[in-house]
Amino acid sequence: PAPGWSIDADVVVVGSGVAGLTAALRCEAAGLTTVVVTKARLDDGSTRWAQGGIAAALGEGDTPEQHFEDTLVAGAGLCDEEAVRILVTEGPDAVRRLIATGAQFDESADGVLELTREGGHHRRRIAHAGGDATGAEISRALVEAVRARGLRTIENALVLDLLTDAEGRTAGVTLHVMGEGQHDGVGAVHAPAVVLATGGMGQVFSATTNPAVSTGDGVALALRAGAEVSDLEFVQFHPTVLFLGPDAEGQQPLVSEAVRGEGAHLVDADGVRFMLGQHELAELAPRDIVAKGIMRRMRENDAEHMYLDARHFGAEMWERRFPTILAACRAHGIDPVTRPVPVAPAAHYASGGVRTDSHGRTTVPGLYACGEVACTGVHGANRLASNSLLEGLVYAERIAADIASTGLHARVPQSLPTAERPAHPLLPPEARFTIQRTMSRGAGVLRSEASLAEAADRLDRLHADARDALDENGKTAEPGVDTWEATNLLCVARVLVAAARRREETRGCHWREDRPERDDTAWRRHIVVRLNPDRS
Ligand code: SIN
Repeated sequence: PAPGWSIDADVVVVGSGVAGLTAALRCEAAGLTTVVVTKARLDDGSTRWAQGGIAAALGEGDTPEQHFEDTLVAGAGLCDEEAVRILVTEGPDAVRRLIATGAQFDESADGVLELTREGGHHRRRIAHAGGDATGAEISRALVEAVRARGLRTIENALVLDLLTDAEGRTAGVTLHVMGEGQHDGVGAVHAPAVVLATGGMGQVFSATTNPAVSTGDGVALALRAGAEVSDLEFVQFHPTVLFLGPDAEGQQPLVSEAVRGEGAHLVDADGVRFMLGQHELAELAPRDIVAKGIMRRMRENDAEHMYLDARHFGAEMWERRFPTILAACRAHGIDPVTRPVPVAPAAHYASGGVRTDSHGRTTVPGLYACGEVACTGVHGANRLASNSLLEGLVYAERIAADIASTGLHARVPQSLPTAERPAHPLLPPEARFTIQRTMSRGAGVLRSEASLAEAADRLDRLHADARDALDENGKTAEPGVDTWEATNLLCVARVLVAAARRREETRGCHWREDRPERDDTAWRRHIVVRLNPDRS
């Protein structure tokens, strides 16, 4: 059926985190008619959960060159140097523009930005807000700016598919909207430029720091549209996530790296600092190294978690510097002022995503991507802490500049969406949990050919069952947010597992137990995937 409604714009931005709202504000400022669509409310994505902060060479004695070096070391040989150069050189001004937009970062009494450290940074270069509530402040400032500028926004709008014209150029997106009055039901925004800023896919695993909305929708859309996706095997597991039990599922509370940046120690149950001697930066080594150090010690000691000890901060510092984390720990009956905090790694960030050039262009003309959904090349095999908010900012600005300098022509969509009767099968909502458990078991922080093969089989069976039901009797799950989310999770999980099997080495955050060495001869390259749009 044809969409129930449609609207026209120059640009449709899909997603409302730091990347999406920055892109939208800059497009609007350039005189482009811009519509923001977002799956839940404007501030419901990952951005508002960011704690530690935003990295940029803003401190005395720091330089973009030093930030460049630290980013490359963390990326373990797979960063795109041009992309990183752009990030670190344009980053400081992008942060200043964010401040001019209204974000208030923590400052000393004499008005100088307070900067902290996190893993892999040799300098204090992480700006933060509200102590450990940086993302919430950025989100607040950007949402306020979007409202003040009167930008058109549609909330509760799940993006379905890309519309293209007869030449394969972007012509807009289809959406499934719930409860938004005149834009209810299945509809379309027609626009010659689409900016994907849909965030990550952490919900592909059972335990993650990501909110429930992070279901890989943008990557799945891009795959269905025939765009190239790269580096999906590089899922970053945050080393210090509050441990709430071995069976804890869904979004888990993060304990920011900044806690280690301010001097907390990782210890085992006997109080031994096991990161000493493993890396010159000890607890502040790049994230993959700390996650591996924790996992190794958990295995050696047959333990379910390790501890983060910051009792020496004292109550005043905990309350001033880390109020969000303090409250989360206390809500779970743990007082970090008096006892070490139990922590274990959990899925945190997709370093890969929809492949873009340095202007955020994907391989489909008119389709752009920025933020976690994108793979600009800045993160390589392992993202440096607090580079993600910065990447969202810098590349969103570049996308807006690119769109503004390109003559935009309305495109005629080649075919109208069939969202209520999709060509690809929809999964029942409960498949989400099967996917998550399968992925955590087989493709988590530790992987091997055997574990990945088992995961691939399970995921293939889910796909085959859904496809058979569609082929044989036209049956598919009722279209809705939860069925689309399960379907998108399966789509990205299958590609992730295939890439992880293919990369027969250990590099960055991809840790293969059966291939423990880094192999620069065979594997200093990217795994790029492009699906045939008819077969996705
Ligand atoms: C943190 O605060 O530890 C998260 C920082 C990040 O993921 O970049």
